[in-house]
Amino acid sequence: MKITIIGTGYVGLVTGACLAELGNDVFCLDVDQSKVDILNNGGIPIHEPGLDDVVARNRAAGRLQFSTDVAASVAHGDVQFIAVGTPPDEDGSADLQYVLAAARNIGRHMDGFKVVVDKSTVPVGTADKVSAAIADELAKRGKNEGFSVVSNPEFLKEGAAVEDFMRPDRIVIGHDQTTEGLRAHALMKKLYAPFNRNHERTYWMDVRSAEFTKYSANAMLATRISFMNELANLADKVGADIEAVRHGIGSDPRIGHSFLYAGCGYGGSCFPKDVQALERTARDYDQDLLILRAVEQVNDFQKHVLGKKVVKRFGDDLSGKHFAVWGLAFKPNTDDMREASSRVLIGELVRRGATVAVYDPVAMKEAERVLKLDFADDAKLFDRISFAANPMAALGDADALAIVTEWKAFRSPDFDRVKAALKNPVIFDGRNLFEPQVMADIGIEYHGIGRSILTRG
Ligand SMILES: NC(=O)c1ccc[n+]([C@@H]2O[C@H](COP(=O)([O-])OP(=O)(O)OC[C@H]3O[C@@H](n4cnc5c(N)ncnc54)[C@H](O)[C@@H]3O)[C@@H](O)[C@H]2O)c1
Repeated sequence: MKITIIGTGYVGLVTGACLAELGNDVFCLDVDQSKVDILNNGGIPIHEPGLDDVVARNRAAGRLQFSTDVAASVAHGDVQFIAVGTPPDEDGSADLQYVLAAARNIGRHMDGFKVVVDKSTVPVGTADKVSAAIADELAKRGKNEGFSVVSNPEFLKEGAAVEDFMRPDRIVIGHDQTTEGLRAHALMKKLYAPFNRNHERTYWMDVRSAEFTKYSANAMLATRISFMNELANLADKVGADIEAVRHGIGSDPRIGHSFLYAGCGYGGSCFPKDVQALERTARDYDQDLLILRAVEQVNDFQKHVLGKKVVKRFGDDLSGKHFAVWGLAFKPNTDDMREASSRVLIGELVRRGATVAVYDPVAMKEAERVLKLDFADDAKLFDRISFAANPMAALGDADALAIVTEWKAFRSPDFDRVKAALKNPVIFDGRNLFEPQVMADIGIEYHGIGRSILTRG
């Protein structure tokens, strides 16, 4: 099938590459010339395990092309996927300007029937706005081409995106029951048939329910995290171990083990903005989503928890103190720094006068870029950050180590070397990677999240 992907970011590039891998002829469009140049020169603008091979293979086979040519992109695909960003607007709602710009481009150039797929995460009702934008552009051209807007939200996880796309838990597709909607259904069914060979994974529904499903999924996951974080903070006070509690409750099949990890808050490009956008949608309908408001408040608080623990241990004024930070990306296996908890901790440390040496296995370049922006108003704060070549190099002379991202490489360090490198053997573990008793036995002062069982009383 001939497919166009509009927006070649995390979702668009993975979608395009994976659909090409299945034999489709894929045209990826982006407005960012530098991104397109990188891809056309054989590079990959993001870090995503396994993606480079899939892209290289399908480019070489002539099934995957990258361009900034809008007219050519519209002409190419019978199915046009919109996978552009939907960042939060000032009021928390999803900013639809990129989605609607993409829709208008389709209306401006289309000739013949098109299925337009909203793959970006968009609020309920967006498909109607996309339809209206396309219809408006067609009317300006005096054209009456048929089209149907379908909702096909994406559930891939950064860091495992290729695997998630190729072996999805479920595919959600919303379409309407008009003649065009049924034609779209047939095309989408054909496109996704290879994913359903083993068993049917597609959930067909109306467009609004599909749009709502994506937000509901992210809201549920964010809720589980904030729930555990709030309990972890209490566990710290009452002297319980949140890790023991996690196992204790996760073994109940009604609860399950996934997504119950306490830590220093969730970040990334999805949970924070999607929770906010759903709250905003609810307010538009005069409803207050009380649980989600609390989920967000807990997460904002949680991103400061490591900083608070550092202050409790070393005092308000951290001038002259030096800290090592392991892990900068918002989660492992990605270089994505959007809303990363590391940015909050580093900000807190340098504003209190400390210097920090940071290390991340893949996000160093991206971290340098975003931290420079974070401290654009006060460049001397940025100067307090040094970027270490490896985890051990970050530790030299540090008063303590803080761990913010649960990269596998941090899970079993040589603790004797860690202890020897640090000025004080103190670890603030924002992801509960280590066991308090093991740390105590080695002689490392250990501050986890909800794990103060050994230090109570
Ligand atoms: N990143 C994730 O893990 C993830 C997972 C599921 C869903 N989503 C959703 O998918 C959407 C895209 O997210 P992302 O992380 O891939 O974003 P991204 O910022 O990585 O990529 C978006 C791309 O769209 C391009 N773009 C913007 N306007 C354009 C236009 N008019 N024409 C062509 N290209 C244009 C940008 O230059 C950029 O390269 C968002 O709605 C997001 O919420 C993201």
